[in-house]
Parts: sequence; structure tokens; C-alpha cells
Amino acid sequence: SLRSGRSESVGLLVLDVTNPFFAEVARGVEDEAATSGLAVVLLNSAETHERQRRNVRLLAEQRAAGAVVMPVDDDLSDLLWLSRRGTSWVALDRGDVSEDVGCSVSVDNHEGGQAAGRHLIGLGHERVTFLTGPFAIEQVRRRHQGLRAAFEEAGLDPDAAVRVVEQPLLNPEQGERAVDEVLAGGPKQRPRAVFCANDQLALGLMKGLGRRGLRVPEDISVVGYDNLDFADLVHPGLTTVAQPKYELGREAMRLLHAELNDPDHLHERVLFTPELVVRGSTAAHR
Ligand code: RIB
Repeated sequence: SLRSGRSESVGLLVLDVTNPFFAEVARGVEDEAATSGLAVVLLNSAETHERQRRNVRLLAEQRAAGAVVMPVDDDLSDLLWLSRRGTSWVALDRGDVSEDVGCSVSVDNHEGGQAAGRHLIGLGHERVTFLTGPFAIEQVRRRHQGLRAAFEEAGLDPDAAVRVVEQPLLNPEQGERAVDEVLAGGPKQRPRAVFCANDQLALGLMKGLGRRGLRVPEDISVVGYDNLDFADLVHPGLTTVAQPKYELGREAMRLLHAELNDPDHLHERVLFTPELVVRGSTAAHR
């Protein structure tokens, strides 16, 4: 049974509600919450720490039974604040939360970045541009480390092979806006392969490349991350790293149930494995 005085709802704090990644995660959370009749209240941090903090405070005021939280950055103080208030939480999409402080569910981002890197190296690409959101987001930092590891493994110097273009946000508009920076250096220096930290950036980048008359994959190979539905709807289809989004949400809520039903529940850390999906947006280096 729920701790006394708590409502029959749980909060789901997402990083960016406009990213379809979170819609699938939310569906998993909701399906699992429904098994015990709990309502899920959605709160959007819009990739800002201020909004996250305000939402966490709101949840506590509303006496939510618990929360599934996708933190916006490395600072876990909002989660620790919830703990002090006696509100159970599970961190979603974060692999670095110690079991001493709470439960977490994540996907191996290093593995995913490495898979993308191996794929491009296998196609003969010895230089890759990593188009990313802020490195303050743990997931994308790990994807970058995985990409570098793939080059190291292949005996290539990652400092020379991997160029980083860091952007403030992870959405399609930002991907499109980044195109000049991605292409900087002129036609000779132009990258032949871009690994994007998520599909949203990749989608925008593909649009930007098209506007400049560049073809994917003939002129530039593009790899995304997440395997959103559109990855299979655009032409060419987007090569990307699939994450088990629905399962991620379902598992996070399963852990939250365990925490709510048993105050002595030992915190758990669950790690899923991503999977590379090869489509038409990547081709051999020429
Ligand atoms: O939150 C930013 C990204 O992290 C999402 O697109 C998804 O890749 C998640 O893991």
C-alpha cells in the first residue's frame, strides 16, 4: 500500500516533451502505473534546470506518491531533495546514479556510441563529426566516449578522427541551424560522416544538408540515435542506434512500484543494451 497521506499519482519529469523519444517512454510508464491504478502526471523540464527544480517542488507540494525523473544534467540535487522529503523516485536514462541514493534505469550509451563508430569505420570513414547537445547531459557524453573508443579499437587516433560540434539543444531546429558549423572548412574539409547524438538533431541536419544541395549518403553519411518512428519514414531511412524506449519507461515504473510498496526495497540499477539499425543514410566513404 502507498505511504499514508500520499496521493494516487506519480510524477513523470521528462527532459523535453517535444521529443518523441519521451512519448514512448511515457507510454511504458503509464502502462505499468495502470496496473496499480496510479495516475501519471507529466511535467516537462524543457532542458532547463530551473524548470526541473520548479517541477520537483510542485510534485512534493501535490504530495505525489513518487516520481520517475529524467534529470536534465549531472546535478542530482533535486532528486536528493525529494529523498529528504520522503518522496520515492527512480532516475530514468541515467547510468551514473549510485544504488546508495536511488534506483536507475538506463541504456548503455557507451555501447551505442561505439556501435555507431564501428559501423562508420567499417564503411571506411576515418573521420567523423559528432553533432551533439550539451555535454552536461550524461547520455550524450557517453555516446561520444563510445565513438572515440571505436576509433581507438581500430588503431586510429580519436583526437584526430572525431570532431565535436556542440549545440545548446537536442531538437531538429538546432540540427538544421548547426549545418554551417558542421560543414565549416570548405568542400575539401567537409565531413563525409556525421554521428548525431539523437535522431532529432539528425532530422534537422538532413534538412539543412538538403538545402545546401548535399546528398545523404552520397556526399555525407548520417547516423542518428534513438530510432524514432520517423527514422524509417524519411528517405533515405536513417541509420540509427535503437533504444528500448517503451521498456525503459515500463521498467522505471516497475522499480518505482517496488519502492512504493516496500520501504526497505534495495535500490536497483538496470542497464539495457542498444542496437544499431542500418538503413540508407550511411554509405562507404568515397
Ligand atoms: O534526452 C536527450 C536524449 O537522451 C534523447 O533524445 C534520447 O536519446 C535520450 O537518451
